This record gives sequence, C-alpha cells and structure tokens, in this order.
Amino acid sequence: MPHAIRIDRHGGPEVLRYVELELAPPGAGEVRLRQTAVGINFADVYARTGLYPTALPAVLGQEAAGVVEALGPGVTDLALGDRVVYAGSPGAYATARNVPVDVIVKIPDGVDDETAAAMMLKGTTAEYLLLRTYPVRAGETIVFHSAAGGVGSIACQWARHLGAVVIGTVGSEEKVALARANGCEHVVVLGRDDLAARVREITGGRGVPVVYDAVGRDTFEASLDCLSPRGTMVSYGNASGPVPPVLPLKLTEKGSLFLTRPSRKHYTLTRAETVASAAALFDVVARGAVRVDVRQRYPLADAARAHAELEGRRTTGASVLLPGAP
Ligand SMILES: NC(=O)c1ccc[n+]([C@@H]2O[C@H](COP(=O)([O-])OP(=O)(O)OC[C@H]3O[C@@H](n4cnc5c(N)ncnc54)[C@H](OP(=O)(O)O)[C@@H]3O)[C@@H](O)[C@H]2O)c1
Repeated sequence: MPHAIRIDRHGGPEVLRYVELELAPPGAGEVRLRQTAVGINFADVYARTGLYPTALPAVLGQEAAGVVEALGPGVTDLALGDRVVYAGSPGAYATARNVPVDVIVKIPDGVDDETAAAMMLKGTTAEYLLLRTYPVRAGETIVFHSAAGGVGSIACQWARHLGAVVIGTVGSEEKVALARANGCEHVVVLGRDDLAARVREITGGRGVPVVYDAVGRDTFEASLDCLSPRGTMVSYGNASGPVPPVLPLKLTEKGSLFLTRPSRKHYTLTRAETVASAAALFDVVARGAVRVDVRQRYPLADAARAHAELEGRRTTGASVLLPGAP
C-alpha cells in the first residue's frame, strides 16, 4: 500500500501526517510512478498554512522523480521503467502516485533521481525568471534574494553564466560563502546591511534594472529602492509573508517601475513550454554552468522536520524527501 504525507487541516508542521493511501489505476493521460525522491519547496509550506488555497484533505508537494510503473489509456510517449521527473502536480509527498504526462519529462542520463527532484521546480523557476520574466543581459548588475536557498542557488549561478554581476542576499553570515560559491560577486546580509544603500554604492548610484524577490513582506520596500528608473520588480514569493497592497502611484514615485508577481504555472502552460524550460535547465546543468546541491535529505515520514527547518531558515540549497528511506 502506498504511503503519503497528508494534511486534514491547516497549521504548523505538526499537521503533516504519514498515512496509507489507496491508489486507483492511472486514468487517461496519466502514469503511475514509484517515487524515488520528492522535492521540497517553500510553496509546500504555503499550502500547509493555507496561504495558498488548498482543498482539504490534501497530500502536499508538487515535484518528484520516479520510475513509470503503469500506463494509463492513451499514453504513448512514456514506457514502463522510464526514469522521469515532474513539477507542478499537487500530491507529490507520496511513495507512489498517478501523474498526468503533461507535466512529466524524462531524466537525462548522468542526472540522478535526487538531483532531478531537487532541480525540476526550482530550476525551471530560475529559467522563466531569468530568461522570460525579465531577460537578463550580459553586463547587467542584478539583485537576487535568498542566494543560498533552493531557487536562489540555481538562479544566481545561471545569472552569472548569462554574464550578469549578481548581488545576492542572505539571512545570516553563515550563508555568505555559499552565496559567493553560487556566483554572487556581492553578498548583502539582510538585517545587518542596508540593502538599498549597498546596491547604490555598488552601482555608482544608478541602481539595478531588476530585483528578484521571493522574501516578500520583509524586503519589498527595500527591493523597490534598489531599482533604477524603469526597473522591474519581480516579486515571486512570500517566505516572510505576503506583500501588502501596493498603490500604483508608488511605482511612479520610485521611477516608473514595472511590477510583476509571476507564478511558474503561467510559464509552463503547455507540455511544450514545460519540456523547453526543462531542456534549458538540463543544458546548463550538463555543461557544468549550474551545479545542483541536495544539501538536506529526510525520510518521507520526517516531512514535518523538513518543513520546520525550511521555515526556520536553517536549510541551504535544495532539500528532498526520500520515500525509500527508513
Ligand atoms: N512564483 C514562482 O513561480 C515560484 C516558484 C518557486 C519558488 N518560489 C518562491 O521562491 C522562494 C524560494 O523557494 P525555495 O523553495 O527555493 O525556498 P528557499 O529559498 O530554500 O527557502 C526560503 C528562503 O527564504 C529566506 N527567508 C527570508 N525571510 C524569511 C522568513 N521570514 N522565513 C523563512 N524564510 C525566509 C531564507 O533565506 P535567508 O535566511 O538566506 O534569508 C530561506 O532559506 C519562496 O518564496 C517560494 O515561494 C516561487
């Protein structure tokens, strides 16, 4: 019988329960996966707390790697035994499950399952942010928050590979070295340094053309103050809480700024977009331009501990849950 991490109510990590689940045969356009590694994402915390609308009861999680064990009607482009990874399909914290083929891609040779599960959602997020939301150009100086985190670790390396000078932020001194290893030429420690002042100093007063900010409430204002006129504020998450309402006039006052609040799901609307985004990610990883570090591993049943560490800012890089671990 498959096992999963389910919530029956919203709340802290204690609401995560390890339960047995019935699993129906895969439906049309679905495959059944035996999951080998499950990616942990901050969005799983929002689903748990209820910040992101989530119907209950719910199996948490959005991404995992695994092996195809059964094919539903109409599935022709995957075969039994294929090693695959997916993101953006709720219900991933499980030992086995059915997944629509639309969100699945094959794992390239040379990439292990843990790494695939660690990078699919975070890395394709980095792809759309850097290449499609605000396309970063060589020579630009940019700000990327949470430079030692899951998305940030991948995105900062990728931005550097694109030729950008990256100003990364971290929450503590201990994370500075990792942010530097991720390609940040400058690292700002939130709570210690004045972000906007440092950015003005580094850019000779000009500010930056783009800030990527998923910290949310705590950094939103300071991030706006880092931007040059007509700069783009990419507010793509809320680790410290949701950003309060913003008056359009504020964007005028701060320099005719652009503000976007993107979500990965709107940049992977079709199978073709998902495949192209993953291909771009696999390419930079294969060429060694982006290194993906699984820095925390937990048995699936220990998901509550994983959530407490992620929310407590005690993790770096990516974290995975291992369904096969005792
Ligand atoms: N919109 C999208 O399409 C999309 C897709 C994927 C992820 N995201 C967002 O991107 C962000 C990163 O996701 P992730 O899964 O890779 O997580 P993560 O970066 O590994 O973890 C979140 C990081 O946020 C920072 N943080 C700052 N203030 C915080 C606070 N008050 N509480 C907790 N953390 C705080 C911490 O880094 P420091 O301690 O170094 O500050 C923490 O490590 C999340 O906000 C997530 O929702 C958005």
